[in-house]
Amino acid sequence: MRLGLIGHPIGHSLSPWIHQQFLTETSIKGTYQLFEVAEKFVSEQIEQLKIMKLDGFNVTVPYKQTIIPFLDELDFHAKQIGAVNTVVRKDGKWIGYNTDGVGYVTALKSSYPDLFNGHKHVLVLGAGGASRGIFHALCQEKFETVDLANRTIAKATNLLTLNQTEQIKSCAYSFAQAEENLMHYDLIIQTTTVGMKPNVDEQVISMQRVKKDAIVSDIVYQPFMTRLLHDAKEHGATIHHGHEMLFYQAKLSFELWSGQVVEEKKILKDFIDKIID
Ligand code: ATR
Repeated sequence: MRLGLIGHPIGHSLSPWIHQQFLTETSIKGTYQLFEVAEKFVSEQIEQLKIMKLDGFNVTVPYKQTIIPFLDELDFHAKQIGAVNTVVRKDGKWIGYNTDGVGYVTALKSSYPDLFNGHKHVLVLGAGGASRGIFHALCQEKFETVDLANRTIAKATNLLTLNQTEQIKSCAYSFAQAEENLMHYDLIIQTTTVGMKPNVDEQVISMQRVKKDAIVSDIVYQPFMTRLLHDAKEHGATIHHGHEMLFYQAKLSFELWSGQVVEEKKILKDFIDKIID
C-alpha cells in the first residue's frame, strides 16, 4: 500500500512513524511518504499524486480546504466540517474524509468513557480549524452542553451552526466569560495554538476556577506538558495530553485505507515513550 502526507511544513511530522507501526502490526507491505509542498506548487503536486496512484494520503495544514476541489467525493461529515485530512482512493476515485475530530473524541472516550453519559458540560477553547472538527464530533455524542469560547467571539458564534442537535445546548463566549464560569464545566478542551513550542510560557485562559473533578485536555502536544495542563493539574483537575488526538486520527485514517482494525495499545505506549519531553 502506498500512503503519504501532503502539507507544509511537515519535516518533523510523526505520522510516518505511526503509520509504519500500523503497517507492521497489520502485516501490510507499504510505505508512507512525505510530500512537503510550498503553496505556489500545490495544485501541480496534487495532480502528481493522482498520477502516482497513491492508495491514500493525509492532508495537513495549510491544505485541508485546498484539497476539496480535487476530490471526486466528499464524506458527509467532512463536507459539514469543510476540511479534509484523509483521502482514500477507491475504484480510481478520490474520496475525502475528516478523522481529526472523531479521532480526538475516540481518544477521550477510550480514557474517560463516563464523560459520555449525557449529563456533562463541555467547553471548547478556540474556534479555528481544529476546533471545528472537534466541536462537530462532540455534537454527534451525548452531552448536556458544548460551549465555545474564542478570542474573536464572532468566529465561535459562526461555529455554533455545526451543532444541529436539539439535545445539546451551545453558546459562544469570550475568554473572560469562560474564565469566570469555568467551574460549571466537566470537560475543557484547549484547541488553539497558544502554548505550543516555542511559546511554551503562554496560556490561553487561567485554570484558577476549574472544578476539582473536571478533565482538562489540550490538543497541543509539543510540549507534552503545556502550561495550561500544568495549571489545571495544580488546581486539582485531571489532565489529558494532546498527542492522543494525533495518534487516533492516524489510526482512523489507516483503518479507512486498509479496511483493517488496528490493535493500538502497544503502539500508543511506544508513541508516548517516543515523544515525551
Ligand atoms: P488551527 O487550524 O490550528 O485551529 P487556526 O484555524 O488558525 O488554526 O485557528 C487558531 C485558533 O487559535 C483560533 O481560535 C485563534 O483565535 P482567533 O479566532 O481569535 O484568531 C486562536 N489563537 C491563535 N493565537 C491566539 C492568541 N495569541 N490568543 C488567543 N487565541 C489565539
